[in-house]
Amino acid sequence: MTSKPYLTGHYAPVADEITAVDLTVEGTLPPELTGRLIRNGHNPKPGVTPAHWFKGSGMVHGVRLRDGRAEWYRNRWVHTPALDGAPYLTEQGPDLTASAAGTHVIEHGGRLLALCEANLPFELTPDLETVGAYDFGGRLRTAMTAHPKEDPATGELHFFGSSPFPPFLVYHVADAKGELVHTAEIPGATASLKHDFAITRRHVVFVEGNVTFDPEEHSGIPYGWSDDQPSRIGVMPRGSDGARHIRWFSIEPGNMLHVGNAYEDGQGRIVLEGPTVDREGFQLSWNWWVGAPGRGTEPNTRSYTRSWVIDLVAGTVDEQIIDDLAVEFPTLNEKYLGAENRYGYAVSFPDQEGFGGYGVVKYDRTTGARRIHHVGDARLPSEAVFVPAAGATNEDDGYLLTVISDLKQDASQLLVLDAAGLERVATVHLPRRVTAGIHGSWVSDS
Ligand SMILES: [Fe+2]
Repeated sequence: MTSKPYLTGHYAPVADEITAVDLTVEGTLPPELTGRLIRNGHNPKPGVTPAHWFKGSGMVHGVRLRDGRAEWYRNRWVHTPALDGAPYLTEQGPDLTASAAGTHVIEHGGRLLALCEANLPFELTPDLETVGAYDFGGRLRTAMTAHPKEDPATGELHFFGSSPFPPFLVYHVADAKGELVHTAEIPGATASLKHDFAITRRHVVFVEGNVTFDPEEHSGIPYGWSDDQPSRIGVMPRGSDGARHIRWFSIEPGNMLHVGNAYEDGQGRIVLEGPTVDREGFQLSWNWWVGAPGRGTEPNTRSYTRSWVIDLVAGTVDEQIIDDLAVEFPTLNEKYLGAENRYGYAVSFPDQEGFGGYGVVKYDRTTGARRIHHVGDARLPSEAVFVPAAGATNEDDGYLLTVISDLKQDASQLLVLDAAGLERVATVHLPRRVTAGIHGSWVSDS
């Protein structure tokens, strides 16, 4: 028996891989939703109890939509050596192929990649079968973040590899076809945990928080909060010579897990936003992630959005907490990635006082308005993925796709919301409950 919170309730793993076809649709699926929604998450094999949520083997769940129909659902483990028990640390050092591969899944250059930040990506087929570890034709010699950024203007994929050991941070760029064309070590980086980062139209932005390498942590993820670890933002120009021009700016203590967006404002300052935890919030989440006493009721119970405005000329950073709703999984219309976005989306979590609850949140950054689509009792939405509507003219012309874990019905649905008003457009009934998980992507046929 286990009381690990990440193996129970919404997070209880499923025991097998299945395929189901011709799914029931309520409402009308817009025909431009022709492609696959793929979501990754941790789903250890039956009988396996990982010591940390993030060590659970990755499983991808896919829903295939085409011309108003939901053609199939399938779920597949990412078949890595770690799924069969291969250790990450070997006598030769880390095995970058021994991946949980359970954090994110993206498509770039025609390749579908399951990601986990300590490892190489794992390539999947369109039907979610595992091809194997992918190292960009031998060019990628570091791990790959689970949060690469595809530049909507150039199609380039910007990413990094981080490690608790030198070189702590290595920046990479793959071109639109998927060729790795640039790699640079980043001067001044430390062992601070770097889960996400940002690109703007002209800069690359790294964030180092107070969570850093802790060799005493034995959950399999050797990190912990340290008051001695400086919190900093690193800003460097994009381009092949950018790394040697990086500048590091001190910020308040915290740990930002995910970036909402970053951009240059009208005055050339860099604006960065993302849900961030303080020391106590980190400890509540971490204790949940490892199933320790003193955990929050859910992860992210004290994750509040902060903004940083970095004035590169004056050398200053203005930092503020800008929302009182506990949220995570920020998303946006990715056409606006790196540029000023009016709208942002997130998943709200119940905080320690029970405020908020699960919902899909929309922010209007111009008016300051916040709207929540409450998903109902005992229902948990996954990251809301934005898909533009056909012929979209406004930034929020599109749909939000989220997979609901429904404990009362022991079932799941793919919920399609209108991104403008957050009304439900369609519901696709899935053949079983989908384990609540981490990140996902829409992979359009076009
Ligand atoms: Fe993430």
